[in-house]
Amino acid sequence: MPILQAFAPSADRPPMPAADASPAARRYRVVPVPSLEWTPQVERETAPLYQRVKAVVPPVEWPFFAPYVKAINALKRERNAVILAHNYQTPEIYNCVADFVGDSLQLAREAAKVDADIIVQCGVHFMAETSKILNPDKTVLIPDLKAGCSLASSISGEDVRLLRQKFPGVPVIAYVNTSADVKAEVDICCTSSNAVEVVESLGADTVIFLPDQYLAKYVAAHTTVKIISWNGACEVHERFTAEELRRYREGDPSLSIIAHPECPPDVLDEADYTGSTAGMIDWVRKHHPRRVVMVTECSMADNVQAELPDIEFVRPCNLCPHMKRITLPKILDSLIYLKEEVVIDPAIAEKARRSVERMVSLKR
Ligand code: 13P
Ligand code: SF4
Repeated sequence: MPILQAFAPSADRPPMPAADASPAARRYRVVPVPSLEWTPQVERETAPLYQRVKAVVPPVEWPFFAPYVKAINALKRERNAVILAHNYQTPEIYNCVADFVGDSLQLAREAAKVDADIIVQCGVHFMAETSKILNPDKTVLIPDLKAGCSLASSISGEDVRLLRQKFPGVPVIAYVNTSADVKAEVDICCTSSNAVEVVESLGADTVIFLPDQYLAKYVAAHTTVKIISWNGACEVHERFTAEELRRYREGDPSLSIIAHPECPPDVLDEADYTGSTAGMIDWVRKHHPRRVVMVTECSMADNVQAELPDIEFVRPCNLCPHMKRITLPKILDSLIYLKEEVVIDPAIAEKARRSVERMVSLKR
């Protein structure tokens, strides 16, 4: 099982020598490497946290997770750090070490309010960049710098400049799933929870909406504004098919199907509800279906299952390989060694901030 393979023995890691230390590590004091032994005391102290995840984490796995959970929570206090975790993080991260969880918009709103010294972003790189853009003077860390996103890597700032030349005067909206470089070139950002509202807030009859072709189609179906799109796609959501959802429904006509708008349109046609990851979670809390399939990244069903154990989740398990790069051992290393630090050229960050803040200041 991949999550257990990530738990290579690391209890005897040495303190990092000063010469190898990251720039962030040189700004903070060295802390001792905590013990990662599974002891009766660790079991006792982490028992309330295990209660939160016992529906989805078997007892045999908890002795691997618990020492990390204890060490991370202690180091967070010592470093004055907060952990912002996306809804796709695995249950032991989402439920046991995160201070705030949510969709991209909620995490950006939280990032704008943080008053801790350090933000550890448990999500993908564009999310950590968004936190840094909103907090230029804070230390923002991501446990694995390679946690990318197929949408963010589908477009560059240069592409946006060329689009502007091709469509002069047409406003440009970037999904937050883009690099800081791209955010710096656009008029405003949006997320899956406010895309239609952002498009309509500009008062234009045509907009460029990038980079997700499917989110662009979803928005086009819900507004009269003409949408010019880019051909990016989420490698996780584009794998779902309408055919597989119809098969689930044929097997159980009372099944609820809820989907993320990064899915292709024929997949969304099969859904009873479409919304952001937070919108999907709220829908399940409100409607409390007997059986439901969440057409999105697989860990989210685990997280909702932990909260609502009596609901049956049908799981077509598509994992986001980038989100799954974030693990408890890497989070602990982030807090011990202050890595990996997210650094953005200040001139780019300044321009990108305007697009992100313009979105965050919209009412919803
Ligand atoms: P949300 O903003 O809906 O959480 O989506 C982020 C994302 O990357 C979905 O794949
Ligand atoms: Fe990017 Fe898709 Fe992963 Fe979300 S699920 S981070 S859009 S690759």
